Amino acid sequence: MIGLGKMGSALLSGVFKTHLFKASQVLGYDISKNARQHSQRSYGIALSSSAEAVLANSSRVLIAIKPQDTPTLFERCHGIPGNGKLIISICAGISIQTLQKAFGPQAQICRAMPNTPAVLGLGASAMAFSKNVTATQKKWCFRFFKGAGIVSEVPEKNLNAITGLSGSGPAYGYYLTEALALAGIKAGLQADTALRFSAQTLIGAATMVLQSGKSVPQLIADVSSKGGTTVAGMHVLTHSPVRAILEKTVKAASARAKELSRVS
Ligand SMILES: NC(=O)c1ccc[n+]([C@@H]2O[C@H](COP(=O)([O-])OP(=O)(O)OC[C@H]3O[C@@H](n4cnc5c(N)ncnc54)[C@H](OP(=O)(O)O)[C@@H]3O)[C@@H](O)[C@H]2O)c1
Repeated sequence: MIGLGKMGSALLSGVFKTHLFKASQVLGYDISKNARQHSQRSYGIALSSSAEAVLANSSRVLIAIKPQDTPTLFERCHGIPGNGKLIISICAGISIQTLQKAFGPQAQICRAMPNTPAVLGLGASAMAFSKNVTATQKKWCFRFFKGAGIVSEVPEKNLNAITGLSGSGPAYGYYLTEALALAGIKAGLQADTALRFSAQTLIGAATMVLQSGKSVPQLIADVSSKGGTTVAGMHVLTHSPVRAILEKTVKAASARAKELSRVS
């Protein structure tokens, strides 16, 4: 692992729970001493003295550094053959083509976009692969990201939209959870009760969407009795520009991912 910051350690934490591999099998490097020490103390991974050494000594390499730091990393790793190595990058906006150029045509590339709830095994990761990735390597990537939540393969062109939706999405979720709680406070609830009930209600609703097998309109209909409280609340919600605002939010984050891919 190159980069042991927020997202890198969230993935480690989620994946270790699945026993896909042992912590001692992971060789990690981060330029930050704090991040290195934190990963060693928290997960017991082995530490390397450089990113180059991680690349030279591993058959699978996960790159989890900020997109703007990748040119320096690629320069340092230049000349170390990526032949037959599986390079997994979670760097927003860094294309398969850029990664292929950095690690050589024989490197096999998985470009992925996870999100931080991976730390709880509740992440959502999307992956796109270079053409030379083998079926076995793909299977390994599925098992890896599945350890951190749900996972899907998507065409690479969709990864910027995934970044805008689920990569950045936990922040939208936190904001909306708090907004619902604040509304509860205004309606007379204690702050801690309002936040707990808001969060649990959103977990419950999202889990119903994923697990009930019902469509969203059906689920809404199930809790909306004629003349009841939900209908009164939903009348306000559906006559407000919530959907348009969320559309703009995802569009802005996706556009930023696209911009990052142009500067890399
Ligand atoms: N956070 C998220 O929600 C999220 C979600 C999906 C994808 N991602 C992607 O995950 C990547 C990492 O994001 P993050 O939030 O985990 O960032 P982060 O917390 O800043 O972690 C990145 C770590 O990499 C270190 N680093 C920088 N250059 C390095 C190099 N050349 N070699 C080794 N380590 C280096 C940084 O050290 P310094 O701090 O000292 O620079 C930092 O400790 C990004 O590309 C981002 O697009 C993040």
